[in-house]
Amino acid sequence: MESKDPYKSKRLMAQQYAHSTASQLRCIACGATDDKPGPNFRCSVCGDLLEMAYPGWDSSSPDVAALKRAWQQRRTSHLPLDQSGVWRFRELLPTVPGKSIITVREGNTPLYGLPRCARIAGVEHLLAKHQGMNPTGSFKDTGMTVAASVARQQGFRWVACASTGNTSASMAAYAARGGMRSLVLIPEGKVSWGKLSQALDYGAVTCQLKTDFDGCMRVLNEVVQRMPVYLLNSVNPYRIEGQKTAAIELMEQLDWNVPDHVIVPGGNLGNSSALGKAFLEMQQLGLISTLPKISIIQAEGANPLVRAMRENGGRKLVPVQAETAASAIRIGNPASWKKAVRVLQASGGMVEQVSEVEIALAKAEIGADGIGCEPASAVTLAGLKKLVKQRFVKSNETVVLILTGHLLKDPEFTLKFHRGDLFAGTSHEDEAKILAAEQRAPIVLDATVDAVVRELQKHEDLR
Ligand code: F0G
Repeated sequence: MESKDPYKSKRLMAQQYAHSTASQLRCIACGATDDKPGPNFRCSVCGDLLEMAYPGWDSSSPDVAALKRAWQQRRTSHLPLDQSGVWRFRELLPTVPGKSIITVREGNTPLYGLPRCARIAGVEHLLAKHQGMNPTGSFKDTGMTVAASVARQQGFRWVACASTGNTSASMAAYAARGGMRSLVLIPEGKVSWGKLSQALDYGAVTCQLKTDFDGCMRVLNEVVQRMPVYLLNSVNPYRIEGQKTAAIELMEQLDWNVPDHVIVPGGNLGNSSALGKAFLEMQQLGLISTLPKISIIQAEGANPLVRAMRENGGRKLVPVQAETAASAIRIGNPASWKKAVRVLQASGGMVEQVSEVEIALAKAEIGADGIGCEPASAVTLAGLKKLVKQRFVKSNETVVLILTGHLLKDPEFTLKFHRGDLFAGTSHEDEAKILAAEQRAPIVLDATVDAVVRELQKHEDLR
């Protein structure tokens, strides 16, 4: 029975969530299981990353049709958990008691066609799964609802993250909704104002450290050893579980027809790991029978995974000093690189890197399709163009770009782009000439009808 008032009964919410998915944390390197991970979510035996495993899935296969039906039906329910595009897939997530769950109705993000970008890239079927349409404007919300709920269930008063901006915005929101305090460590001067202002408004204690993201991460790793704060970066395996749901939802939106390619931006490499895990699990459970090729795109100036794959097949990652205007992915020492390498190898995807100018152009092109995204998301289209040229992506194949953040996250980048200021005085000035066709600077006019009409006529003969 559905409640008329979705907020009336927390008890009902908990009852609805009576299922239990047996899960355990397991080391990705040595396979040791760990019931009580330390504050850094590192394996107590070998120090590598942990991931969520579901041992029951090895011996029993679910009623796939019933699962798909249940996930669809929940979209019509008024219960908060069902309305969440993460928790409606709860059969594939670790169990969290309903009363601990913090949801801001994340997920349920749109899948858009990108016809203009498709023509530019040279493919017939180009889609964008827009994770920037989440409550705080980025894909982080899907992981945050799970990991922040676990923090609350475990009784933490404080949660914390190092961030290039989106994680901090999301964490601060979920902490506030869940009655917890939040500590944000961000690189000073390297986080867009949109994201910084979100963290402030949602009430985080926001510390701008005089270092980069990798430096913030190093400091936070020590802080969580000393203080009872719960780490909400994507080394937290619960974050990865929530972020998986974007792939499940994508498959639902495609009527379970697997696309040929999924293209993801790569920063700390949690998201590519999560999406890959989802596709592998869906295949294991019989929800899909093949995998898409999952390709990861990095900015040239923040390309440690690209280097690792090209130089040693992904066996060793050498950190780089990261620099890119796509500040969300300005990361030189990505925590989840081993998980991402596994995804590339299992799915047969590629790594590619794109220049600053290529990122700016692709962002404007996605904008001109009426969708828009933040710079880090646009590496997907820039990367696709290269993968088409290399014939890794064929023109008749279906391609899904994962757009990770909303256009309004970084308006300064967009304004500088359209005013022609983005590359002024930099070494990219010459290359940036190709941007002219996409630049639409705001026009200052006298406040007269004639001036406006003249301007209109300049752009097109409308008589
Ligand atoms: N796109 C956006 C908009 C991001 O904010 C991030 C990461 C990525 C892509 C890369 O995802 O790290 O999972 O490979 N942002 C993090 C943050 C690091 O702190 O907000 P990833």
